Amino acid sequence: MIRTAQQLAALPESEHKCVSIRSAIPGAKDLAFLDSLQKKYSNQVGFLPTVALQANIERANVSIALENDEPAAYLLGKGNYLRDPHFGIIYQAAVSYDARRRLMGTALVQHFIDHMAPGIRLIGLWCAQDIEANEFWNACGFEAIAARHGSRRKGRVHIFWVGRTPRGRHEPLRYPKCTRGGLMREQREVFGLQPGEEYKEVVLPELAPLAEGEKSAKKKRTNRARQPRASLAAMQRAFRYGQGKHICVVVAGVTKYLPVAPFEMPNFTDLARVMVAVPGEARTKPGVPSNVVRAGPSGGRSKELWTPATGVDAA
Ligand SMILES: CC(C)(COP(=O)(O)OP(=O)(O)OC[C@H]1O[C@@H](n2cnc3c(N)ncnc32)[C@H](O)[C@@H]1OP(=O)(O)O)[C@@H](O)C(=O)NCCC(=O)NCCS
Repeated sequence: MIRTAQQLAALPESEHKCVSIRSAIPGAKDLAFLDSLQKKYSNQVGFLPTVALQANIERANVSIALENDEPAAYLLGKGNYLRDPHFGIIYQAAVSYDARRRLMGTALVQHFIDHMAPGIRLIGLWCAQDIEANEFWNACGFEAIAARHGSRRKGRVHIFWVGRTPRGRHEPLRYPKCTRGGLMREQREVFGLQPGEEYKEVVLPELAPLAEGEKSAKKKRTNRARQPRASLAAMQRAFRYGQGKHICVVVAGVTKYLPVAPFEMPNFTDLARVMVAVPGEARTKPGVPSNVVRAGPSGGRSKELWTPATGVDAA
């Protein structure tokens, strides 16, 4: 059970009354703050491109803690991790060096929990094994239950920490079977920790070397990701004014524009091809009589994606 509220409550009011938390505001100022802090602590928080930071600010996924009205820390996280409507994820949390050890990080975690969608019962995050932040998550009441390999270049291990929200008091902990996102652009198996095993002790089996085909596929994917993409506004214009190069797909309330070929309104065969071309991105209901496909959150799929943690009881 996450104990952050108790930790906060134990703090004398004089110490925390000058700290306030708000959502990040779209625009240059908060974006610049996030970017500068993530660059300073890139070894700990990793890296998100500016567009991703911007998109997360716009979707209200970022909270900023202010000290004396100036940004001093931020947390970036969201619900629906791996399409599980009960699972939230924290992608980044960072506190300016001068503001540390005054429960600002704790306050951000508490704020994140307080403002989660009501269905969220568990919150997870990945943390490199070799950094002090693991102690922070431990102090916040999270439990280390699994691990995966980090990038081949750095050879680190990432620990999966999970905490329960008040609504998840009785929720068994679980971790994903594998992950495939992030900069590594490679599927990574996730290994459960043994009961009583400390995060510091985790040693993973060696990563199998990439086969030649996988190497070139990975290179291709990386190169493709680096190519400049048309802006969303440009794609929307093309869609709206009948140049017909994209279909509009609404996935879990988010509108996406997917390229289709040939360049005309797709029939359902075209649509199916697009869905296959973008695995996991979109789900369609057969028989929807328009080029707009609605796809809700798919909790139903999540069972096969998760492994229950061993030897960890519900609180
Ligand atoms: C990790 C981080 C967010 C913690 O923020 P913070 O505001 O300093 O943390 P808090 O003051 O809320 O700490 C609460 C408790 O966590 C533990 N803790 C926090 N930082 C710790 C550290 N560096 N070493 C050991 N324990 C730590 C302590 O038990 C602390 O309570 P205490 O100060 O009474 O001993 C901050 O150090 C940071 O931004 N680090 C760089 C970025 C990073 O590592 N992000 C996390 C990536 S997964």
